[in-house]
Amino acid sequence: MKDYSLKDNYYCYKDSFVLKNKLDIKDKKILDLVEKIITESNILLLQSKNFDKKELNYDFFMWLHKYIFGDIYSWAGKLRVVDLTKGEFKFAHYSYLDNLMSDYFESLKEENYLIDYENDELIEKLTYYITELNIIHPFREGNGRVIREYFRILLKRKNLYIDYSNKEKYLEGMIESPYKTDKLKEFLNDNLKNIEQ
Ligand SMILES: Nc1ncnc2c1ncn2[C@@H]1O[C@H](COP(=O)(O)OP(=O)(O)OP(=O)(O)O)[C@@H](O)[C@H]1O
Ligand SMILES: [Mg+2]
Repeated sequence: MKDYSLKDNYYCYKDSFVLKNKLDIKDKKILDLVEKIITESNILLLQSKNFDKKELNYDFFMWLHKYIFGDIYSWAGKLRVVDLTKGEFKFAHYSYLDNLMSDYFESLKEENYLIDYENDELIEKLTYYITELNIIHPFREGNGRVIREYFRILLKRKNLYIDYSNKEKYLEGMIESPYKTDKLKEFLNDNLKNIEQ
């Protein structure tokens, strides 16, 4: 995945694109590799936990990010304090993030975290909520991973999961989703599967 073409003094080492990190790694390739290994192992640990009774609210989402990225970044679980662009798209302005996130999780709660939706209606709702959360892009890094884990936990209650093995289609759908959600919807339609018991 391409990184943000952004050098910011708050998150990066001086005159570099490398994110300041707890291990003080200043080589981008090494950081990418170490970050991958650590987050993959934290995600594995996370996947062994049972969140069936947990309220999937704003606090829980922030906790998830902290759990996955807290070994590497001091700002894990905290909203970003800079603006971000990827490709052509500028994500939500940082000063709106807290309000946007509160409204987002309020609305998901009102819909009972999608528990009662099935089939086409569920695909519609999933497309909408995944797109919206990606447009908010609450964190400086790690939005893709935390959004995937959040919806994995949410869908597990319905005995469903999203198969992301067709990474290209998923990414194409995500990139287009702020303008047009057809591709993401099609991806979800093809890749929302039952968990085999
Ligand atoms: N041009 C774009 N417009 C909108 N969304 C995008 C664009 N490019 C990537 N994305 C979304 O942003 C996510 C990546 O965000 P980020 O780098 O913060 O998280 P990540 O966990 O490192 O990503 P990932 O593991 O998905 O590569 C992608 O998964 C995709 O959903
Ligand atoms: Mg990334």
